[in-house]
Parts: sequence; structure tokens; C-alpha cells
Amino acid sequence: EATDLDNLHHRPPVVTVMGHVDHGKTTLLDAIRKTRVAQGEAGGITQHIGAYHVDVPHEDSTKRIVFLDTPGHEAFTAMRARGAKVTDVAILVVAADDGVRPQTIEAIRHAQAAQVPIIVAINKIDKDGAQPDRVKTELMTYALVAEEYGGDTIMVPVSALKGHNLETLLEMIVLVSEVTDLYANPDRPAKGTVIEAHLDRARGPVATLLVQNGTLRVGDPLVAGAVFAKVRAMVNDQGQRLEAAPPSSAVEVWGLTEVPTAGDEFEVYGEEKQARALAQERAQLERTRQLTNRQI
Ligand code: GTP
Ligand code: NA
Ligand code: MG
Repeated sequence: EATDLDNLHHRPPVVTVMGHVDHGKTTLLDAIRKTRVAQGEAGGITQHIGAYHVDVPHEDSTKRIVFLDTPGHEAFTAMRARGAKVTDVAILVVAADDGVRPQTIEAIRHAQAAQVPIIVAINKIDKDGAQPDRVKTELMTYALVAEEYGGDTIMVPVSALKGHNLETLLEMIVLVSEVTDLYANPDRPAKGTVIEAHLDRARGPVATLLVQNGTLRVGDPLVAGAVFAKVRAMVNDQGQRLEAAPPSSAVEVWGLTEVPTAGDEFEVYGEEKQARALAQERAQLERTRQLTNRQI
């Protein structure tokens, strides 16, 4: 969350997709990613970094939306465990031929507990057995009431498979984001959350970082969980090298000394020495904790 009140700017929303098994989360994320190509995305090889962005035409400009493609449940579980808030809007995918199922309910509870606004994507409307109205009725039990039933939950019928109505869904995300106060200060040192991390044979430890406040720059010293890094290079989801990553951007970062843990927070420090010392201190604390646990 933003703490500096001097230079607050609107930042793009960060969205996760949640829902029951096989209701179409992955298909929807893939289909939305493809709408970029239709909008004339500038070349560049799409990287899998655990997040991507789309620029949606809106009135006379474009609005950016950032999608996390880590499974929503995992993102929320990690968030809850660490008290971090990563997501601004949750897309709840409900298959119109299957309706509300146990993981649908779990997803609703996660989002409601985190006070994250929910947009319902009623998926698979292309199927013969699709019953979108039944889905709307079922959701009322969980305090998600469609506008035509007197509520204020946005529900968009879509077909992820056929790519139907995705523009409407994106437009609704933009509208919901506009009434949610999403601000950050691009002038401060970056802080945010580790989305994904792994060991790359050629580049060593790499991590996708979601910048939630401030601007992350090449050369910045940071601590991610208990790991020190001096940012050597940054790449976005389109494979472009960046010098600076503003609020709400997700970038793959090279230059970490070890692989950090997904869900951990990161923060840039003004002094490299200070960052190294802090990382060392935290790593030591972690080792002590592990030893203590082993003894119990
Ligand atoms: P998990 O990650 O396993 O929980 O599943 P998921 O929610 O990511 O679902 P996924 O995208 O893998 O889709 C499950 C199946 O439903 C696949 O066979 C998809 O092709 C199909 N499917 C997804 N969306 C649609 C749709 O809009 N219409 C139809 N007819 N099939 C769809
Ligand atoms: Na599946
Ligand atoms: Mg999936």
C-alpha cells in the first residue's frame, strides 16, 4: 500500500483468476493474453514470467491491466500467510454448465476475506448445457448478486474457448478498478512481492517481482525475503529489457544471490551494505528457526 502522500499516481490493477477445477481459468488467461496480439502488440517474444499485462482501449486512451497467472488459490493462500495483499480484483470463473462448486465457494471466501472486489466470468456459454441464469441464482447464496437481481456484482457471460465477450470482461475490470483507489508513488524505492522464482542454468537465481510501490531500477540493491540482490537486468512479459519498472509492473529480475520464496516481500534499500546485512540477518534467523523446529 502507498505510504508517501506527496506524489501519488494511479497505478494499473493487478488481477487474479480463481474458480473450480476445469471451469476454464487457464483457457481464459490464455485467451485474454491473445487479445493483445489482436490489438497490435509490438513484437517481442512472450516470456512466461508468471504475470502479463494487456492494454485495453478505454475512452480516448488505453488502460493497463496486469494479470497474475499463478493459480488464484495459491496467490491468496500465500498472501494470507504473509499478510501481503497482491491482488486488486479477483475474476471468479464459473462454468455455466457446472455451476457453483466447492472451489468456487472457497475462492469467494478468499476474495471476500481479503476484501478484494469480485467480477464473475460465467464461462463456457458456448456449450449446449450452459445455464448462466442458474449460476447467477446460485451465487446469491454467497452475497454475489447480479445487477438484474438488484445487486452490484458484475457478471459477464463469456466463452474463453471461443474468445467471446472478452472485451466486455476487460472493460468491466477497468470500470471496477476506476472506483477502487489504486495509487502508488513512482518516486520512492521499490517494494512489492515475489511472484515466482527458480534457478536458471545460465542466469542463476531469477525471480518475477511484482512492483507494488515505487520504481525498481537496474542496479538497485534489494532484499527479497532473506535473499540479497543487486538488480543486474530486468525483462518484462514481452521479453523486453527494462531499465526501470514502475508500480504494478511484473518483471523477471536477474542478480539474486539465491532463489527467494514466492509470496515473500521485497524492498529496495538506499545502501547496498544495509541490504546485504539485513539479508544476512534474516537468513541467520531462518536457519535458527529451522534448527529449532528440527529439535521439536
Ligand atoms: P484447472 O487449472 O485444472 O483447475 O482447470 P482450469 O480452470 O484452468 O480449466 P482449463 O482452462 O484447463 O479448462 C478445462 C477444460 O474446459 C478444457 O478442456 C478447456 O478446453 C475447456 N474450456 C475452457 N473454457 C471453455 C469454454 O469457454 N467453452 C468450452 N466449451 N470449453 C471450455
Ligand atoms: Na484443467
Ligand atoms: Mg488451469
